[in-house]
Amino acid sequence: MPEEATRRARVAVFVSGRGSNMAALLYASRLPGAPYEVALVASNDPDAEGLALAEAEGVATFALSHRGKARGDHDSAMEQAAREAGAEYIALAGYMRILTPGFVQRWEGRMLNIHPSLLPNYTGLDTHARAIAAGDSHGGVSVHLVTEDLDAGEVLGQIRVAIRAGETADSLAERVRFAEHQLYPRVLARHVSRPFDAEWLLGRVRALALALPETHERESHGAPGWRVGTKKSGKYFAYFSDRHHGTPHISLLVKCDGMDELEELVEDQPHAYHKPAYYGASGWLGVILDRADIDWDSVAERLQRSWTAVAPKGATKLINAADSF
Ligand code: GRF
Repeated sequence: MPEEATRRARVAVFVSGRGSNMAALLYASRLPGAPYEVALVASNDPDAEGLALAEAEGVATFALSHRGKARGDHDSAMEQAAREAGAEYIALAGYMRILTPGFVQRWEGRMLNIHPSLLPNYTGLDTHARAIAAGDSHGGVSVHLVTEDLDAGEVLGQIRVAIRAGETADSLAERVRFAEHQLYPRVLARHVSRPFDAEWLLGRVRALALALPETHERESHGAPGWRVGTKKSGKYFAYFSDRHHGTPHISLLVKCDGMDELEELVEDQPHAYHKPAYYGASGWLGVILDRADIDWDSVAERLQRSWTAVAPKGATKLINAADSF
């Protein structure tokens, strides 16, 4: 496949120092078939070595010192630079700043960090010295999603690195760095590919559908579907459609309020909704799943509304009760 045919996610990399992880991300992105490109390298330190390297490699850069600025203002400027570069993801690579909660929330699931320990062990600083002092057999590195709690988001990948006799924090750090450079590009590549992966999308939809009361899964014409009610007389409230009937999308088919709502959504938000072949005529709305900026809360809400529309009375009481908590 020619390289241009691969859709590449745009990633902003934030650095504060040397930027060796940024360099590993950047050079991996230049391999044929890489699923992401580095759209921006940004730093809170205008003298960060990583900026000069990015510039030499023709990557856009942004630098703004945090000194004398309120945290929120500095974060806003960094975020704006990422948005202006068209970033869909932010990869923190030795970015030595704690981020404001609003910033973190807006990038939920799309901001990654690399941390030099086997999380959940040793969050924070001095990870190597602490692992050695504790007599651990291994240190290592983790790539994780960024959440409001420091170094606590979902771990996306790890590599263990053996601690040898006589190891110092510096000698361990140096070897962990090799592992970091292997791990980060691979984990980032896998992460940005997930929103377009049918198996992964199906797993997420399935978990949401089966979390609703009295539901079960049953295939319909080769497509996974979910029903509410008994196995005998249950009714479908959702189907998973993997580019069926010639549509280019992977989508979730749900019942909406009727034809007017369906037509309106498809017209106003064609990137998010479509009218599926055959099913559309009987009021099934296609919620497009294979897009980078999907809002999973709204997918969950759509599923619940569809469930409510077809569920027998006894079952809807259950969900009303659950909602009132
Ligand atoms: C790495 O050890 C990384 O795990 C930590 O900060 C360091 C950054 O190094 N978060 P570099 O700037 O990528 O060389």
